[in-house]
Formats: sequence, C-alpha cells, structure tokens
Amino acid sequence: MSPFSKIIAGTMTWGTWGKNFTPSEMSALIESALSLGISTFDHADIYGGYTTEAAFGTAFKDSKVDRSQVQYISKCGIQYPSEARPLNVKHYDYSAEHITWSVEQSLQNLNTEYLDVLLLHRPSPLMDPQEIAKAFEQLKSQGKVKSFGVSNFTPAQMSLLSTENLIEWNQLECSLTQSKAMFDGTTNHLMQHQIGAMAWSPLGSYFKEDNEQSQRLRPIVQKMCTTYNATEDQILLAWLHQHPAQIRPVVGTTQEARLKDAMDALAITLTIQDWFLLLETSLGHRMP
Ligand SMILES: NC(=O)c1ccc[n+]([C@@H]2O[C@H](COP(=O)([O-])OP(=O)(O)OC[C@H]3O[C@@H](n4cnc5c(N)ncnc54)[C@H](OP(=O)(O)O)[C@@H]3O)[C@@H](O)[C@H]2O)c1
Repeated sequence: MSPFSKIIAGTMTWGTWGKNFTPSEMSALIESALSLGISTFDHADIYGGYTTEAAFGTAFKDSKVDRSQVQYISKCGIQYPSEARPLNVKHYDYSAEHITWSVEQSLQNLNTEYLDVLLLHRPSPLMDPQEIAKAFEQLKSQGKVKSFGVSNFTPAQMSLLSTENLIEWNQLECSLTQSKAMFDGTTNHLMQHQIGAMAWSPLGSYFKEDNEQSQRLRPIVQKMCTTYNATEDQILLAWLHQHPAQIRPVVGTTQEARLKDAMDALAITLTIQDWFLLLETSLGHRMP
C-alpha cells in the first residue's frame, strides 16, 4: 500500500513566496497536517527562490514529528534567475550532473537522507532519457531517492522517459476549472500505465480569479454546498477525487481548518449528474 497520503500538503507558499511563516508556525502546521492524516509534503528546489526547503527543514527539526512518519516529494530542473542563482535566463537543466547536484541541495536543505519522490518539474526540449536514467540510477542505488516521477509532462513525454526510467508519478495541473488533462489523454495514460496522479492547484482559479468561469460556477457550487453539507473547496476537491485515476490533490492551503476540510472532502460522493453539471458549467457548454 502506498504510504503517500490521499491529500498532499503543498509548501509553495509556506515561505517567502507567500505566508513567510516563522519556524514555529511552520512546525505547528507540519504537526497539524500529520495529526489530520496528511503525511506527504510537496516541495520544489525553487520554492521561495530556493529558500523554502531549508525553512521547512529547520522547522521540521523543531517539530515533534519523526522523519519516518512523513514523505517528501521534491522537484528539480527549473533554473530560475534569483538572488540564490544569478542566471541570465530562466531555463531547464536535466543533465545528470544538475539532477544529482540539485538532489544533494534538497537533501541538505530539508535535512534528510532521502527523498520519497523526485519529480522532473517541467518537460524540456533538451532532455535526454539516457542522461536522466544515469542520474536516477545513481540516486536510487545510493538510497537518496526512493522513487521518481515527472510534472506537467504529456503522455508522449512520459513515454520517452519510461523507455529508460521507471516513472511512478505525474503531478499535473488539474481541477474543475482546468480539466484539460482529463480530455487530452493524460489521465488515460496514467491509468493505463499505473502511474500515480497528483494534481497541483486542485482548486484551480475558483478562489484566485473573478472571471466568467468562476462566476458561472459559484452559484452552482454554492447550491451543492447545501445539498452535500460541504464547503466550496470541498465540492471542488470531491469533484477531482471522483475521477478513476485516483488523483491526489496537492493542496496549497496554509490553514489547518482547510486542511481538515480537504481530508473530509474525500468522504463526499457527488451524483453523476452533479459531477457533469459542474463540468459543463466550468466548460461553459453542454457535453457533446
Ligand atoms: N508541479 C508544479 O508545476 C506545481 C505548480 C504550482 C503548484 N504546485 C504545488 O501545488 C501546491 C498547491 O498549489 P495551489 O496553492 O495553487 O493550490 P490550491 O489548493 O488550488 O490553492 C490554494 C490557495 O487557495 C486559497 N484557498 C483555499 N481554500 C480557500 C477558500 N475556501 N477560500 C478562499 N481561498 C482559499 C489558499 O489560501 P489559504 O492558504 O489562506 O488557505 C491558497 O492561497 C503548491 O503548494 C505546490 O506544492 C506544483
């Protein structure tokens, strides 16, 4: 059985890219998440301009949680011009040398001996499957990374890598307001090849943007809140969870109450008509 929790806590905005939590606020949130059954934490080297992994690592040391109780996902590959990396241009680097160096940095920053999952953050036109395999094999044999995956990869890009590597996960942008992956063959590919699915921004643009789509959705979602005795974010997460690819939402909330709502949303089952009503409202047209 997979040790990864069904809801994954995304840490992108825990540090300087968002809430700028103090170490004690961060360790309290780690403990709260775990007490709710959320044991998997999603990181990336670039979060906080390459600073959030270290902030988390410091906070974790002060928490009452043992490393064996949690799982760490991290990502590599994006080279982002920032204070920490004064580069001329944003680019992607999947050379074996960069992948292994980046993992070493993440391990040091997170203060851990291993990552449970390493994801290649975004596909690059220059990625070479043999070069990537070389890095993965080395990291696996050294016990530094337990499993590998990708993020934002199409089925063709996944196939290219699976000739050389075992890809166990794909972390996609997927939500009621951005359901492209359910229609372009991506989720089908994941199910066919038994690749685990994770969804980033699982609430989509519903709370982030006031556009035609969110205006169409709001009255329908709010009506369903009454029907299912649920909050709006729970309706959005229940919709995603109902997909047979068993998509694990990577939730970005920094609030304990919303983490609890996310876990409780797993128990909600929408009727098939409500599921499609949400979809057609989001798309803005009836199903063909
Ligand atoms: N692989 C990739 O390329 C990639 C890209 C982007 C993100 N990610 C990962 O995905 C994670 C989640 O992304 P996300 O933050 O976009 O996810 P999200 O869960 O869709 O959105 C979270 C945001 O919505 C707000 N929110 C939640 N419930 C709300 C409510 N009921 N009312 C109003 N606002 C609400 C949260 O604010 P509060 O904190 O105040 O609750 C937070 O700012 C990130 O942390 C990161 O780990 C991965």
